[in-house]
Amino acid sequence: MKTVQDYIRTIPDFPHEGIMFRDVTTLFNDPRGFRIAIDQLLHPYAGQPIDKVVGLEARGFILGGAIAHQLSLGFVPIRKNGKLPGKTIEQSYTLEYGEAVMEVHDDALQPGERVLLVDDLLATGGTAEAGIKLIERMGAQVMGCAFVIDLPDIGGRAKLEALGMDVHALCQFE
Ligand code: PRP
Ligand code: ADE
Repeated sequence: MKTVQDYIRTIPDFPHEGIMFRDVTTLFNDPRGFRIAIDQLLHPYAGQPIDKVVGLEARGFILGGAIAHQLSLGFVPIRKNGKLPGKTIEQSYTLEYGEAVMEVHDDALQPGERVLLVDDLLATGGTAEAGIKLIERMGAQVMGCAFVIDLPDIGGRAKLEALGMDVHALCQFE
């Protein structure tokens, strides 16, 4: 029986030479693959006191939307800057080259709400850390960070765990 990892395609040298791009579109494309990924991502959190699912642009929207539906929770998008129409709060973060900004609607979470943060992949952890900062700046609490893929050699898991986060990943690539 295929595992979640078996459905993920690797594309060498995308978007830069030397990068092994872990492509989850092949996982999303397969009905069984998508279902087992969603089931495994939410499994540790089912029955836990969680109020909202927060997804990180872009593939975190696909996963987070399905998880929110399955848990009967609301969904909150954290987007690259300039995409959300309402009043937002912003958080800058470091990319491989330079800086970027993520933002969230300033009324999307209420103080005290408990949140599950979702994305497809954890590399440096910079994107997830920006998401965590936005959630915490709104007075909400991150109950867990769920990813399909962890790239442990790049150090994102260690960074998030040092922030006290519970990190859940379905598979690892070297
Ligand atoms: C990828 C991935 C994560 C992020 C992880 O998104 O989907 O969101 O990188 O990297 P990090 O742990 O080093 O921050 P990307 O920035 O490529 O944006 P996209 O989803 O809009 O393609
Ligand atoms: N984001 C950062 N590194 C990545 C990789 N190797 N594959 C897919 N997305 C990524």
